[in-house]
Amino acid sequence: MKIYFAPLEGITGYIFRNAYCGIYGHIEKYFAPFISPSEKCPMTSRERRDIAPENNTGINLVPQILTSRSDCFIEAAKELQTMGYREVNLNLGCPSGTVCAKGKGAGFLPETLALQRFLDDIYAFSESVNMKISVKTRLGYYNPDEFYDLVDIFNAFPVSELIVHPRIRSDFYKGEPRKEYYAYALEHSKCPLVYNGNIFTRKDYDDLSGVFNSSPETIMTGRGLISDPSLADKLKGFTSDTDFVKFRQLHDTVYHEYQKIMSPDINVLYKMRELWSYWQTLFDGKDRDIKHLMKAKKYAEYEEAADRILQN
Ligand SMILES: Cc1cc2nc3c(=O)[nH]c(=O)nc-3n(C[C@H](O)[C@H](O)[C@H](O)COP(=O)(O)O)c2cc1C
Repeated sequence: MKIYFAPLEGITGYIFRNAYCGIYGHIEKYFAPFISPSEKCPMTSRERRDIAPENNTGINLVPQILTSRSDCFIEAAKELQTMGYREVNLNLGCPSGTVCAKGKGAGFLPETLALQRFLDDIYAFSESVNMKISVKTRLGYYNPDEFYDLVDIFNAFPVSELIVHPRIRSDFYKGEPRKEYYAYALEHSKCPLVYNGNIFTRKDYDDLSGVFNSSPETIMTGRGLISDPSLADKLKGFTSDTDFVKFRQLHDTVYHEYQKIMSPDINVLYKMRELWSYWQTLFDGKDRDIKHLMKAKKYAEYEEAADRILQN
């Protein structure tokens, strides 16, 4: 079984990836949150810092590109190639209003003719320089049945891996994934497939075999790995319990590393709050301390609350 760490913009940047990879491991590939190239600039300095090889040592990282312009994609991919990357991922899933309004992410999916021309261009480029392009997609924009045509479209290209998040744009990240459409892909896709969506527990993974007749060989998970960082160990059968010693190490590493690159206190605390919005499910009965932690404005208040939660 292979596990890929999903990209979560604002959360799984290089600080989190390094901390996670050093403490937990067992992840075959990490996908970086998207870079959004423009005509003038293939990537901003912030985007470059996130994927710079020196900030990702020992991490098998795949950068992701969000655009509907093949020239911008190719310029960014060239730059990534000079940085040493051999695979890039195309984002066809982002549901955000501003992104979709520009015809990017999930907003590109209904433009099937433009999408085919775009794929023609980027795969001609990738074949010429021997670079892999994987695709992360939703089922469609308006209707999941758009997926039938999309599978045919992807089948015409050497998509190195097709990561399917079986939802449509208006689903955002809510509700049950439409797994029956992934089952369709298993039957009809010529591309190697990766399943993504709502794997939070070992049971969630095991249940997939009931729908697909066998467990997916490769999965991508995001919120599940953030919420319970021991999830990869559990899925691979190394443990059935959440390891709170490792959890504390992860917490402390991320917290201290953010302090090195951010100020004032509150900016670091915003970052930690976002993580705690996922982590709080691990700490039943600590609601009061979590409430204090979420309200903390200074490191001292935060640390006091974090210590109370993480003790034992
Ligand atoms: C806060 C947040 C940020 C995300 N950022 C990205 C991104 O940059 N690129 C991308 O392809 N998907 C992004 N996603 C989607 C995730 O990669 C993933 O497909 C989604 O969360 C479903 O998988 P999960 O149920 O395992 O979390 C984001 C999701 C969330 C909740």
